[in-house]
Amino acid sequence: MQDVDEIDWPALREAAREVAALAFAPWSQLHVGAAGLTDQGWIARGCNVENASYGLSLCAECGLVSGLRSGGAERLLAVSVVTQDGLPLAPCGRCRQLLLEHGGRDLAVDQGPDSPPITLGELLPLAFDASELSRRQP
Ligand code: THU
Repeated sequence: MQDVDEIDWPALREAAREVAALAFAPWSQLHVGAAGLTDQGWIARGCNVENASYGLSLCAECGLVSGLRSGGAERLLAVSVVTQDGLPLAPCGRCRQLLLEHGGRDLAVDQGPDSPPITLGELLPLAFDASELSRRQP
């Protein structure tokens, strides 16, 4: 496991900003990019893809998690989510839950250059997770 102090946050943030430029967001005009350091050491990316049927829109984090798995990695260690200006965006509630399954409570989440990263556990306290299912198996 990589130490959180050793994570190259500017590189992760820049990867997120670059992929935000590829977003499809004609309805909100909010171009979002997500980049995550994987357990294999490479950076997975995703951008938001909107739909005219608004509720079908995919957040950038959905693409990120798909990229993680399809690239052969299993775990996210650190994540940066930014808008087109390169400033961090707080992951939405649904995506906090999504990230939890693939990065756990210790996943480090970027808060920009002026603040230390925050853990996903802090962003999503008392979360529902897979242990709730296994605990209730008959
Ligand atoms: N969005 C994301 O991509 N990630 C988030 O965590 C919050 C919101 C996108 C969804 C939609 O395309 C746009 O931002 C406005 O909500």
